[in-house]
Amino acid sequence: MPAIVLVGAQWGDEGKGKATDLMGSDVDYVVKFNGGNNAGHTIVIDGEKYALHLLPSGILTPGCTPVIGNGVVVDLEVLFRELDDLNARGVDTSRLVVSANAHVIAPYNTTLDKVTERFLGARKIGTTGRGIGPTYADKMNRTGIRIQDLFDEGILRQKVEAALAFKNQVLAKIYNRRAIEVDEVVTELLSYVERLRPMVADTTLVLEQALDAGKNVLLEAGQATLLDVDHGTYPFVTSSSATAGGACTGSGIPPTRVTRVIAILKAYSTRVGEGPFPTELFDDSGEFLRKTGAEYGTTTGRPRRCGWVDTVVGRYANRINGVTDFVVTKLDVLTGLDTVPICVAYDVDGVRHDEMPVSQSDFHHAKPIYEEMPGWWEDISQCRTFEDLPENAQAYVLRLEELIGARISAIGVGPGREAIIERFPLLDA
Ligand code: GDP
Ligand code: IMO
Ligand code: MG
Repeated sequence: MPAIVLVGAQWGDEGKGKATDLMGSDVDYVVKFNGGNNAGHTIVIDGEKYALHLLPSGILTPGCTPVIGNGVVVDLEVLFRELDDLNARGVDTSRLVVSANAHVIAPYNTTLDKVTERFLGARKIGTTGRGIGPTYADKMNRTGIRIQDLFDEGILRQKVEAALAFKNQVLAKIYNRRAIEVDEVVTELLSYVERLRPMVADTTLVLEQALDAGKNVLLEAGQATLLDVDHGTYPFVTSSSATAGGACTGSGIPPTRVTRVIAILKAYSTRVGEGPFPTELFDDSGEFLRKTGAEYGTTTGRPRRCGWVDTVVGRYANRINGVTDFVVTKLDVLTGLDTVPICVAYDVDGVRHDEMPVSQSDFHHAKPIYEEMPGWWEDISQCRTFEDLPENAQAYVLRLEELIGARISAIGVGPGREAIIERFPLLDA
């Protein structure tokens, strides 16, 4: 019966994939509701590593039905490549369901994403170059191509013609690029149709029936709260709604059916791409976090920017998402530090801010105000109960909990599926 939402509390890469995978066997449906193959989730099962971009993490759990919701943008080449890779590794992907209303990332939008970034130069966003922004722009502009359009060649051709009539002008006249042929695009998109057909459904109906039948449905966000197009550090955001509200629009599951919102908070902070990041470290501590936490992008391989945990951001994520449970990940990465700083507030030009500043310019000037917690040296990767943790690690978690204002129900102590401490169950019995 319940729908559970899982979101990132910071700037992405908090370990959402691992958290979804953890709940795996108790979850019947995992729905991706926003974003596309800009996401990168690394999941480690029995020492084997899986890197997923477009597919929901539930694809790795036998018996779980993965769903690509209407709020997602789909690169079909990537979809089938990911499916082929998983099939080659023995993963059964046959239950995947794709919304007829999801939008397609047409090849011209991937091109436009890349050339626009180059054109912006120093003002770039640092996108993943996967065509995400231009495809969501087309959706809002009502010139997008939906999965269902692929099943009507006449409509598909009309839509591609209309899109390219404008985009080719931009490509040729502004960016000095070659124009893209309508036929080239239509032929490519049609080449996926037969393989796609059996996967496509009205996913809102599928999910309503699942909920009515008493199934557990997990709505898994790509990206995170501060990358959300409305609530993030605009314009340095992705182009979709990555917060709990987006889970409803992006899946068609109404808010009244959501019983729980789980937010994943890394025990420190990272960010990929441009944009403000108050606790960012440029010294050896930043390098320590990057090395120890293996903070290199799953999608683009870029080194992630690293910094201490920021509880102003944590409180904000709690407020925007209505969090019932936090999962703190990567606590093990903080082992071996004399003290562990927690950002509790900002100093903005001499004024203390306990909450996110209203103005983005203030956020750009925010200097973190830290509280220093005593560190711990013991290896915590084998801890499986809260009491197993060294006292200083427990104190760190409890102080985070107090500052972010919602309970911390689970704590990650290593990349593996088993490396987790569950303080409170994430699913209702
Ligand atoms: P996502 O995008 O939120 O799914 O996160 P990513 O997969 O991009 O990045 C999280 C990385 O941290 C992955 O490589 C995970 O295997 C790893 N990870 C997740 N939880 C833990 C943890 O508790 N400890 C450690 N050391 N690694 C973790
Ligand atoms: P997961 O799901 C971290 C960032 C990009 C860039 C901005 C816009 O793995 O947490 P886009 O290509 O979406 O238009 O890029 O958003 N970004 C992510 N950063 N994790 C992600 O996903 C991200 N998806 C997008 O780096 O700054
Ligand atoms: Mg990621």
